[in-house]
Amino acid sequence: MKILITGGAGFVCSHLADKLYEKGHSLILLDNLLTGNVKNIEHLLSNDNVDFMEHDVQNHIEISDDVDFIFHFASAASPIAYQENPVNTLKAGSIGTINTLGLAKVKKADYLLASTSEIYGDPEVSPQSEDYWGNVNPNGERSMYDEAKRFAEAATATYSRTYDLNTKVVRIFNTYGPRMQLNDGRVVTNFIVQALKNEDITIYGDGSQTRSFSFVDDTVNGIIALMESNQNDVFNIGNPNEITVNELASTIVDLTNSNSKLINKDLPQDDPKQRRPDITKAKKLLNWEPVVKLEDGLTQTIDWVNSQL
Ligand SMILES: NC(=O)c1ccc[n+]([C@@H]2O[C@H](COP(=O)([O-])OP(=O)(O)OC[C@H]3O[C@@H](n4cnc5c(N)ncnc54)[C@H](O)[C@@H]3O)[C@@H](O)[C@H]2O)c1
Repeated sequence: MKILITGGAGFVCSHLADKLYEKGHSLILLDNLLTGNVKNIEHLLSNDNVDFMEHDVQNHIEISDDVDFIFHFASAASPIAYQENPVNTLKAGSIGTINTLGLAKVKKADYLLASTSEIYGDPEVSPQSEDYWGNVNPNGERSMYDEAKRFAEAATATYSRTYDLNTKVVRIFNTYGPRMQLNDGRVVTNFIVQALKNEDITIYGDGSQTRSFSFVDDTVNGIIALMESNQNDVFNIGNPNEITVNELASTIVDLTNSNSKLINKDLPQDDPKQRRPDITKAKKLLNWEPVVKLEDGLTQTIDWVNSQL
């Protein structure tokens, strides 16, 4: 297939591109390099059937070739990155989604949207299954991301119903691994960098809030399972193994043999208290579940961060 990936030079998509390339697909990797880096995909670009297109999804997308499948993943993804680029984030999720859906309509391509666990906001139920509608602050400090992704889901559902497109939505939960940006404030890389430098590990709040972390290979295998399935629906993809932020910090200190101490800082606004995916639907209908243990994924990520420092 000829596949367009928006956000193609980012963390998750660079791994997605690796796997799709291995499967023999031709790729167009579109990115405006806001938070991504060509370094992530450099190793693919010497191949004839992989092209890079520097472009912002908020502008009309012109592609002369046929396109069979579109992944729309372009968006800043970490709270620091989307709060530094609030309008671009809002537009990537709204106008960017309309532009890519319009392209799918013209090219008669199938479509897969990257949504997020953040559409559940600060959830009142745990774990969150796909039929939970969420608890989102519509004008809070994260709303340019959460609400843009909620709009993106609405746009995807509307185009699918109105124009009979095959569309799929993946709600990705916290994913970590090699090629994450080191300075974008995501908790796994923050802690690893601090631990490797023997600096204090900063925990926001008392550290009792929980998260569940999926290694990028597991997340990408889930996304590809959805792509290859005949399901045109919404799926949670993430790891239901829930741990507290304190436990994550201690595990990273142990794995890095660090002397770092854990210190606490104020919790940012709208920081969710717990996050855990219910992946029953993906297990049953996509025959997918995560297999990488946290310690193994962290060890690979630590090695990679070490190589970058
Ligand atoms: N990593 C996670 O834990 C996670 C969780 C939930 C959802 N997601 C979603 O997965 C996708 C990829 O996230 P990631 O973690 O790889 O982040 P990332 O920042 O590494 O990748 C996003 C990519 O999109 C590009 N981009 C941003 N705005 C753009 C625009 N307007 N036009 C074109 N390109 C643009 C960036 O330059 C970057 O390469 C995002 O849509 C994100 O919302 C990720």
